[in-house]
This record gives sequence, structure tokens and C-alpha cells, in this order.
Amino acid sequence: MAEATGTTRTHAHWDPDAASTLGTSEGESARLLRQAEELTPVSGELLDRVGLAEGQTALDLGCGPRGTLELMAERVGPGGRVVGVDADEAHVAMAARFAAERGLQGVEVGTADARDTRLPSGTFDLVPVVFSRNGADPNIGRRVPELYRRAGPTDVQVDGIVQVFPPGHTRRTPLVDLVRSMRPHVVELGPAGEAELEELDAAARAHLEHPDTLVMSHPIFMTWGRAPA
Ligand SMILES: C[S@@+](CC[C@H](N)C(=O)[O-])C[C@H]1O[C@@H](n2cnc3c(N)ncnc32)[C@H](O)[C@@H]1O
Repeated sequence: MAEATGTTRTHAHWDPDAASTLGTSEGESARLLRQAEELTPVSGELLDRVGLAEGQTALDLGCGPRGTLELMAERVGPGGRVVGVDADEAHVAMAARFAAERGLQGVEVGTADARDTRLPSGTFDLVPVVFSRNGADPNIGRRVPELYRRAGPTDVQVDGIVQVFPPGHTRRTPLVDLVRSMRPHVVELGPAGEAELEELDAAARAHLEHPDTLVMSHPIFMTWGRAPA
């Protein structure tokens, strides 16, 4: 694991069996960067409800090109520590660049598979997780609390946020943006060709941009728990 402040280095123990993810195109990485920026107020609010405090250590598992690294670094302060890991080396490089550009103190990023990070257990005060494998599971937010309970944490709590986006808001089109950024993969896999996707994209955008269409976010869930004593 490498310190991302100042000198931008990344530590890699790349596992060739690590999940291949949606984040494998430049367009998708750029979309994730933009999304993290757009979600900053919501993510910050959720982190505040959990009560991440100064001097604590937090892990952003599946941090992508930015994730919540900055929000966590602001909360833990210079005496704290934030670690970001992601299976995608390109995302790790982007996250390291992001942390260095912002001059974030105490932030380290590295390449690791969330299923076996090789980080010492019991060292983190908070571990928020947002990741998916080969396509998002729309019900994952509901499933995570149960998965936490089964994995052992106690006092498992859940909070969530749903927003309504007015006409012109950039968050009205995240799903069509996702499909657009992953279009080469979709075409390669075969469910639709370039021309059909272009037609569907235009129809979906026209619908979503219409002022009479009410557009709401996916529910964003945050789950946290206490490590068993
Ligand atoms: C939807 S993005 C979310 C990124 C970031 N957490 C955010 O909120 O902006 C999912 C991220 O999880 C990563 N990921 C998927 N499977 C993973 C795994 N098994 N181990 C580590 N990272 C993984 C992907 O590379 C991708 O960067």
C-alpha cells in the first residue's frame, strides 16, 4: 500500500482472478469520477450519520477513481488514515492521482481484490462499500445489511437516501450514461447493435429530459455495524 500524498505511488499485488468489473473503459472511469463529484453531498451526509471521527482509520473498498477518499480524509483529519483499494489498476492510478492533486493527507491507495485484500483485519473503524461485479445488483442495498449480520458484525444499522432530480439535472441520466459508456462491451456481448443502442439512447434521453417526467435516484443505502468484541 502506498502513500498517495505528494508522490503518487501505488502498491500492486494484482490478482489475475480478481473480478472484472464495469469499470474497464475510459468512459466508465470518467463517469464514475463525475458521479462521485455529484454524490458528494449525499455521501458526506451519510458519513456524518455514521460518525466517522478525527483520528480514525477508514477503508474505501472498491474506491474506484475517487470514491469517498476525500470525504473520509476530511473527517479523519491529519491524525487519521484512509485506505482505498480497488481491483482495477487504472482506477487505483486515477485515485492516487486524485488524492495527490487534492493534497489529501494520510490517504493510501492500492490494487486489491475486496474478497481478499490482505490488509490486517481489525484495523479499520469504518468500511463503506460500493461495488458491483459484472453489472449492478439493483437490490444490493437491501441485501447488504443481511450479509453484514451473517458475516458477524453486531448492531447493524441502515440508512438511505432517495432524491428527485429536476429537469436539467445531470443525475437524470445515470443509467443511460452507464450504457453509453459501456456501449463497446454491450455490442461485443451481442444483446443489441450500435444502431439500435443509438436509437434507444435517444428515446430514453428524450423521455428523461422531458419536464413532465419525474426522475428519482436509485435508493442509496449505507450499512454499518460494529465488529464483534
Ligand atoms: C460502481 S464503482 C464504485 C466506485 C466508488 N466506490 C464510487 O462510489 O465512486 C465499483 C468499483 O468496484 C470495483 N470492484 C469491483 N469488484 C471488485 C473487487 N472484487 N475487489 C475490489 N474492487 C472491486 C470496480 O473496479 C469499481 O471501481
